[in-house]
Amino acid sequence: MIKGIVFDLDGVLVSTDELHYRAWKALAGRLGIPFDRAQNDRCRGISRMESLEIVLERSPKSYSPEEKAALAAEKNDNYRAMLAGLTPSDALEGAAETLAALRARGYRLALASSSKNAPLILERTGLGAYLDAVVDGSRVTRSKPDPEIFLTAARELGLEPGECAGVDDALAGVESARAAGLLAVGIGPSAAAGAGDYNISRLGELLPLFPGAEGEI
Ligand code: G6P
Ligand code: MG
Repeated sequence: MIKGIVFDLDGVLVSTDELHYRAWKALAGRLGIPFDRAQNDRCRGISRMESLEIVLERSPKSYSPEEKAALAAEKNDNYRAMLAGLTPSDALEGAAETLAALRARGYRLALASSSKNAPLILERTGLGAYLDAVVDGSRVTRSKPDPEIFLTAARELGLEPGECAGVDDALAGVESARAAGLLAVGIGPSAAAGAGDYNISRLGELLPLFPGAEGEI
């Protein structure tokens, strides 16, 4: 029986996946490297430094670890400048309503995001108010698809992994949730690939999947 639901952030609750794309694209443009949306999709769910490797894979030049750290910092500064403009209306359609309804049905809710910027995004959008636990990129040592982040989130909810569902737009995220033993729900690109145990196109579609104790929808 599912008692807890663990959400990814970027591309699930907030359209920050688009802001990540714009910030990586700006960096790639400055370096004269092509970068497209298919590459950006591969950056979903993985860490900033792993994403940078994807951005640089079409570069003829190789970069030292120090140069890579500076490039990642440049992208992050630009990305955070974009995040400064976020407001509650930037949460994805139905995000706040769906989280509120699931909580009202008694589900415990957590975040499992690889982003170190997750606390800022939760604060700007107000979505943090609906979460019982937050596990972000500063709390894990192994990126999705490793199960660490979903296992940590389930533990912080005080639940067994098998009592939780994980919702993620990244293939790496769906794989991470499943490897941790959660029921995996794909949304967006991971749903398009049929990767989840359930695949949805809008957050509101979680409500019929997770009815309340009396089967309330
Ligand atoms: C999320 C995004 C990834 C991003 C990662 C790190 O998982 O889907 O695209 O690379 O977070 O984000 P950060 O905000 O810490 O650079
Ligand atoms: Mg995501």
